[in-house]
Amino acid sequence: MTAIEVEVALALFAVAAATGYFVFASFVYGAGYQPTPRASVAMMLRLAEVTPHDTVYDLGAGTGAIVFRAARTFRARVVGVEVEPIRMLVLRLRRRFGTGADRITLHWGNLFHLDYRTATVVTAFLWPGAMARLRPKFESELPVGARVVSHCHAIPGWTPTTYDRATDVYLYRWTGHRAPPEDGVTAGGT
Ligand SMILES: C[S@@+](CC[C@H](N)C(=O)[O-])C[C@H]1O[C@@H](n2cnc3c(N)ncnc32)[C@H](O)[C@@H]1O
Repeated sequence: MTAIEVEVALALFAVAAATGYFVFASFVYGAGYQPTPRASVAMMLRLAEVTPHDTVYDLGAGTGAIVFRAARTFRARVVGVEVEPIRMLVLRLRRRFGTGADRITLHWGNLFHLDYRTATVVTAFLWPGAMARLRPKFESELPVGARVVSHCHAIPGWTPTTYDRATDVYLYRWTGHRAPPEDGVTAGGT
């Protein structure tokens, strides 16, 4: 191998390692990185009937596909929580250099440590295990009437009010009725 070939191989390895870190490092917390498709973002916010009176929590805010649309187009208050530091930096820069900054709160940390009592809408694109872990947290913290919209993965044991197959979006309305954890009886939907 020539010196140039070694340098190219090292550069490729560095790019692959950086990409792998960016996409996969947050797996252990609840999901890797994949922005929610634009059509699904639009459907999530539309099904949840987001208005300027809402406080939307985006769980695992990524680089802001949902956060900035909810704050800038729907004019809602938005709380974005993200565990991965590079994505949090991107979120802060996008907030700094765009409109609606006063409506956007960003938390760098673990979404399982946040309190959801002030959420009227929750949005998520997380892996199935994270949705299952979130269910008891939603049941003890969400105010009755809160809407939860999830792309790709359902909340185990809850019945969706609506499911849009084209964009793979589930809508739930929290009714305040918890399902027993083991009998599979549904809760949450209306
Ligand atoms: C599939 S991406 C969705 C990103 C964003 N919601 C969007 O629509 O573009 C999931 C995001 O959740 C973040 N994440 C995963 N587990 C987390 C946790 N426990 N706490 C905070 N963020 C988490 C990941 O770092 C990743 O950015």
